[in-house]
Amino acid sequence: MSNYHIKHLEEYFQVYRKSVRDPESFWGEVAEEHFVWRKKWDNVLNWDFNKPEIKWFEGGKLNITENCIDRHLRTRGDKPAIIWEPNDPSQPAVHITYKNLHERVCKFANVLKSKGVGKGDRVCIYLPMIPELTISILACARIGAIHSVVFAGFSSTALSTRINDSDCKLLITADGSYRGKKSIDLKGIVDEALVNCDSIEAVLVAKRTNENIHMEQGRDEWLQPLLDNASMDCEPEIMDAEDPLFILYTSGSTGKPKGMVHTIGGYMVFTAFTFKNIFQYRENDVFWCTADIGWVTGHSYIIYGPLANGATSIMFEGVPSYPDFGRFWEVIEKHRVNQFYTAPTAIRALAKRSTEFVTKYDLSSLKVLGSVGEPINEEAWHWYNDIIGKGKCPIVDTWWQTETGGIMLSPIPYVTPTIPTYATLPLPGVQPALLDDDGVEIKGNLVSGRLCMKFPWPGMARTIWNDHKRYKETYFSAYENMYFSGDGAFRDAVGYYRITGRVDDVVIVSGHNLGTAPIEDAINQHPAVAESAIVGFPHDIKGNALYGFVILKEVGETRDRENVRNEINQQIVDHIGPIAKLEKIQFVSGLPKTRSGKIMRRILRKIASNELSNLGDTSTLLNPEIVDHVIENRID
Ligand code: WT7
Repeated sequence: MSNYHIKHLEEYFQVYRKSVRDPESFWGEVAEEHFVWRKKWDNVLNWDFNKPEIKWFEGGKLNITENCIDRHLRTRGDKPAIIWEPNDPSQPAVHITYKNLHERVCKFANVLKSKGVGKGDRVCIYLPMIPELTISILACARIGAIHSVVFAGFSSTALSTRINDSDCKLLITADGSYRGKKSIDLKGIVDEALVNCDSIEAVLVAKRTNENIHMEQGRDEWLQPLLDNASMDCEPEIMDAEDPLFILYTSGSTGKPKGMVHTIGGYMVFTAFTFKNIFQYRENDVFWCTADIGWVTGHSYIIYGPLANGATSIMFEGVPSYPDFGRFWEVIEKHRVNQFYTAPTAIRALAKRSTEFVTKYDLSSLKVLGSVGEPINEEAWHWYNDIIGKGKCPIVDTWWQTETGGIMLSPIPYVTPTIPTYATLPLPGVQPALLDDDGVEIKGNLVSGRLCMKFPWPGMARTIWNDHKRYKETYFSAYENMYFSGDGAFRDAVGYYRITGRVDDVVIVSGHNLGTAPIEDAINQHPAVAESAIVGFPHDIKGNALYGFVILKEVGETRDRENVRNEINQQIVDHIGPIAKLEKIQFVSGLPKTRSGKIMRRILRKIASNELSNLGDTSTLLNPEIVDHVIENRID
């Protein structure tokens, strides 16, 4: 019997109990039975949350692309690994078989080698959702280079910060990108970013929009001719299980973005295991995760999890609203999608439109619907269930984080009974705990607390690039011997978990994790701004939107406020990207502060959300009088 594929509830409980009783033999069996290792590990697990140091499959040797590609060639060579669906539906979709993927990854890997990239080097990938994105990621993994994908909607400043933080040697990008009706000058953003990046030795440019772009002599090169001339033989570099596979940046509540480091062996085992179970993937199913590969969801559930299972995974270049709001459903019909994985923000936006956009299409291929990125509200859940799933497709509300590498809490479809807004139960090997403010674990059911993990799981990030101290402080210092997620959760009478949201200053907007600090930093660079505070407030479609309280330097002067608002948002677009724009900007003469000078965001959050009846204790404020003033001028 294999622990790998859970098919009924009793089996889930059995497997779960085993995974807690004896995690090493549980994960050891999963890893041994389902993957190719060039050398078996010496220890399944070595861990210490105090240091912190976590090692899975130490001493094991492998290459993840051999597991995601080569080993499927004999039985699945002609099966599509990736189906690429372009932005414009009148253009043909591209089916990339496992054989073809192998050839293209090997060629790309040889190009990287020819540019002097080797094991351990960092490669930054700033590409739209085109096949080169998947291929370049796997090409890095093939030769043991560490990929650092930066979402192609990020600004030049965000890009250069990330390149510099991990000293990337090479950058892979494209001339431009398409998003619905818009075409974006990606290379222009790159040129701006690279003014500040000394570590980049070469830039490889894929062609997508065929715009006439600037190519910097001696630095930039078109990718295609290099690929055309490359050999299609490239032996996989044999790596240690604990070698880094990739860096992916995520925002924290303070400071610069954190480069989360994921390592090869554990990440592979965990994404493959969770993919198989949470989507109940069967041979010949077509799986579609709509995320961008610039986020962890795309890394784990467009590329690594599906390919490690020999699955067919759709990669979608476009947006849900182009050419109209039926695009998702059209693609599902066209490719006979069996499992569909998207975000609540997309569901809410589409639920606002006429159901004719849905009923036009045949969605009978669907078996499982997934949700990720933020809590899914009840209304959206029902629309997803009734209108898309026709009441026949279980919804898996999957809770996890960039840091966790893969899904942690989720129903297993057709196995775990679902309840709207509940992420339900932990995956095997995942040991959640709820802690109170004093750091005491709250046992029993019908309780709320801070969501922690008391035991390591193979997919967890091992460190923050170049800043292990911050890794310890952020995740292992709030509570002793616990990984702290930053989220709050409720455990109901039967032990189901419901995520109640962030307990720190991170705001989730449209499923994107936005730290308030980098946004405030961007705003404060505007010459007219003295100080600012950003909070989230509930928004119909985005889940949360951003509300900015801004103190201007020249109070009382007749500077055009509307202009300043636009400039502030432009400042944010330039420093972070359009996703971080503020929905509302209120100019204030002061901000509520504690005696130690910390902004009391709790109060600002309530004001922004128009929850004025219960502001909580304001007596400890340095300047309690400011609260009424802020309330009087709040923006509805
Ligand atoms: C934060 C992590 C996981 C990939 C996408 C986001 C929130 C995520 C859920 C869910 C409620 C959720 C949490 C978490 N979140 N999934 N199903 N229900 N909240 O990754 O950018 O690292 O953000 O997203 O607050 O901490 P991320």
